[in-house]
Amino acid sequence: MDNRPIGVFDSGVGGLTVLKEIKKLLPNENYIYIGDTASFPYGSKSKETIIELSKKRIENLIKMNTKIIVIACGTATSQALEEMQKIFNIPIIGIIKPTVEYLKNKNIKNVGVIATTGTIRSKGWQNQIEQSIDNIKIQSKACPLLAPMAEEGWTKNEIAKLAIHEYLKNMKNIDALILGCTHYPLFESVIKEELEEHIEIINTGKMVAKQVKEYIVENNMTNEKNQEHDTQIFLTDMECNFVNIAKKLLNEDNLELQKID
Ligand code: DGL
Repeated sequence: MDNRPIGVFDSGVGGLTVLKEIKKLLPNENYIYIGDTASFPYGSKSKETIIELSKKRIENLIKMNTKIIVIACGTATSQALEEMQKIFNIPIIGIIKPTVEYLKNKNIKNVGVIATTGTIRSKGWQNQIEQSIDNIKIQSKACPLLAPMAEEGWTKNEIAKLAIHEYLKNMKNIDALILGCTHYPLFESVIKEELEEHIEIINTGKMVAKQVKEYIVENNMTNEKNQEHDTQIFLTDMECNFVNIAKKLLNEDNLELQKID
């Protein structure tokens, strides 16, 4: 048994789509979430900067006595996960590997990936998918406007519909679309309208949650049953729309946000 919290971070609200799925599978756990709002967006930054930022957020989470860390961000997973796993002696889970395992088991042969510019440039998804699955065709598209729109709460309006249409219009003959940035599940209803019905929309949070659960169960690291548990949210900059989106997404009215330096 291990009552320490699970640490999760992203550049902003996107990682909450992952946190939400982990909380569904592991409701008895304590959680600490860091939204690196002072450094948002991660998607347009260089690999060196993403490594630096990820290091700082992981150091914050380690100081807060977390037992496992989830990089709930496609940009940081694709460009910094490997480096972080070398530097730190704490289990760190990103969003790509658990999703690639899912793809492999489903025998999908034509897949689309949408993500931030940094993630697509890094080829993080492409390389890991190709290494694990033979003869799979991948179409990738950077969608740099979507994460800032999600931070603004523009995920279902006409602008969201136009942007999604523009980004997806050339993605043809796919069986599944990976939402390779954790902000994108916030657009899921609009993406669904844009795609043909048979195309599966893959929300990475679900696969990450499964992997986190497996890891902490196998390693005997779950929180004791009937123990008090809570979720604490920290931001690196409080001047943002985070709280409104977070309340809706997590379905919690009394969310208290704290500032982290
Ligand atoms: N949610 C993040 C991702 O999964 C980052 C978006 C951003 O900050 O640009 O890539």
